[in-house]
Amino acid sequence: MNSFYILHLAIIISSCRVVAEDKLIFLQAVWRHGDRSPTDTFPTDPNKETAWHQGWGQLSALGMKQHVRLGQILRQRYIVNNPGNLNLSPSYTNYEIYVRSSDVNRTLISAMSNMIGFYGAANVTAGLDFPDMPEWPGKFVPIAVHTVDFPYDHIGNTDSICPRRDQIWELVKQTSEWQNLTQENQPMFDALSPITGWNVTLDNLGDIFGAMYIESLYNLTNNPIYHELSKYYDQINKTNDQRESYYVGLDLKPYKGVDFSIELPTLRGGSLLWAIIGNMRGKYDCYTKKVTNPNVCQYWMDPFKYYVWSFHDTTLSSLFTTLGFKRSNYNEDGYPQYSSCATFELWVKDDNSSYIRVYYLPLTNTSDHLIEEVTPEITGCENGCTLDQFEQRSQPFKPNGDGNTAALCNTNLFNDTSSPTSPSKAASSLSSNQFLISIGLLVYVFKNL
Ligand SMILES: *[C@@H]1O[C@H](CO)[C@@H](O)[C@H](O)[C@H]1NC(C)=O
Ligand SMILES: *[C@@H]1O[C@H](CO)[C@@H](O)[C@H](O)[C@H]1NC(C)=O
Ligand SMILES: *[C@@H]1O[C@H](CO)[C@@H](O)[C@H](O)[C@H]1NC(C)=O
Ligand SMILES: *[C@@H]1O[C@H](CO)[C@@H](O)[C@H](O)[C@H]1NC(C)=O
Ligand SMILES: *[C@@H]1O[C@H](CO)[C@@H](O)[C@H](O)[C@H]1NC(C)=O
Ligand SMILES: *[C@@H]1O[C@H](CO)[C@@H](O)[C@H](O)[C@H]1NC(C)=O
Ligand SMILES: *[C@@H]1O[C@H](CO)[C@@H](O)[C@H](O)[C@H]1NC(C)=O
Ligand SMILES: *[C@@H]1O[C@H](CO)[C@@H](O)[C@H](O)[C@H]1NC(C)=O
Ligand SMILES: *[C@@H]1O[C@H](CO)[C@@H](O)[C@H](O)[C@H]1NC(C)=O
Repeated sequence: MNSFYILHLAIIISSCRVVAEDKLIFLQAVWRHGDRSPTDTFPTDPNKETAWHQGWGQLSALGMKQHVRLGQILRQRYIVNNPGNLNLSPSYTNYEIYVRSSDVNRTLISAMSNMIGFYGAANVTAGLDFPDMPEWPGKFVPIAVHTVDFPYDHIGNTDSICPRRDQIWELVKQTSEWQNLTQENQPMFDALSPITGWNVTLDNLGDIFGAMYIESLYNLTNNPIYHELSKYYDQINKTNDQRESYYVGLDLKPYKGVDFSIELPTLRGGSLLWAIIGNMRGKYDCYTKKVTNPNVCQYWMDPFKYYVWSFHDTTLSSLFTTLGFKRSNYNEDGYPQYSSCATFELWVKDDNSSYIRVYYLPLTNTSDHLIEEVTPEITGCENGCTLDQFEQRSQPFKPNGDGNTAALCNTNLFNDTSSPTSPSKAASSLSSNQFLISIGLLVYVFKNL
């Protein structure tokens, strides 16, 4: 009886011990900006740019609120609950967090809004965390948001300058899938053209649907043009969803030897996937002392805990296809909703072996998010993934095989093409490891200025 009891106690203690000692050492979040105005509209739309506060494509007050809410959820999950003793500071501590946004107003301001929710006003001191002056708004603590030039941002912009991707997209338009979808919907396009004042094709259907969707959210639909268009709402939605699947390389058979299900995810999402992996690798190698360069470890990775990527629906969707998700919004058609977010967690066990966990936090209603673990849905991670295994299963989506996206973009699809671009190793582009080391050096240099 006694030994039975002790045995049970031992089992309970040892199983608790394993779980209790797993450490969450690094967190990353990738999200879409919040609610926004349309990015443009068709010529006959009575809702012109002036209908929108701040004009086209700007984050709305609701969009800011969605990100404050998301920030609060992330705070609850990662600071208050403190899984795996991540021990993120409850208030802004600059060497623990790095926020990168695409160079677009709505993603930059979404990141700022999210940080208001994430850090709140907890434990901040006037005169220390912010100036002690009546003009300052409340206990607001500004947090640095970094960005790079949008046309060259292969990580945050799925339409960055990339000749190879342009060649592939031209091929997509020759596929029987694209041609059939066009043919099936030609009667609708023909009906929509005179209403919208545009030559409607699959290419501009998304702009029409985007304007209609947002106008319906904002009750700007009480006009004859909208009433005419709304008869086609469901078909426009469905057809546009299919176009969005093609955009990220889903539902297309290989054509002329090109496997779109590898090429498009790699060229739209591979740089982000491998930047996420590069951060985890850098953290892990410093943690296990495989790397000891002080510029990388002591002055960058060791105290570093949270990397944020503030991007777009297309960025999140492209990342999802590199993870092997079958639909453009994880398990649904269409792109991810405003302020939807994926988190990547890097864990270590007490023998210092690693594993990753990935969660999806889609927006469910105006400003609430669900949290679901999606790790087993990642191809190759059905039974979990160590960092090594995650790198292995991600190899097919590594741009150029070495992470050099600029070089891949300048590699012609076909050898015999007369396209003016020539394959070249761009000296300015870096592999993810070089990238990491150069950021480490940069931080080191900045800290020493
Ligand atoms: C961002 O805002 C500036 C004005 O502050 C405006 O000129 C610019 O067009 C906007 N850009 C985007 C991409 O929203
Ligand atoms: C604020 O700081 C105090 C003392 O450092 C600590 O006890 C408390 O838990 C902190 N509050 C929050 C909300 O982090
Ligand atoms: C496209 O339509 C043609 C003719 O109807 C059909 O043979 C072909 O299988 C279709 N292709 C796809 C990908 O649906
Ligand atoms: C509309 O666009 C299609 C596809 O680009 C083109 O073939 C067609 O000629 C255009 N029609 C008009 C009226 O401009
Ligand atoms: C639009 O109308 C609905 C229903 O009347 C209302 O709940 C919603 O707040 C309105 N939205 C805006 C942005 O005015
Ligand atoms: C578009 O259609 C899908 C189903 O195909 C639906 O789930 C979604 O809610 C629709 N989107 C809008 C904005 O109505
Ligand atoms: C795990 O890494 C920590 C931190 O670098 C180190 O102190 C510890 O000795 C390592 N443990 C094992 C079992 O390798
Ligand atoms: C929004 O969804 C969450 C759960 O996803 C639910 O708890 C909440 O009540 C919903 N709010 C509204 C206003 O429907
Ligand atoms: C391009 O050339 C290389 C080597 O000359 C060859 O291996 C490859 O298959 C060619 N690619 C295409 C698409 O023809």
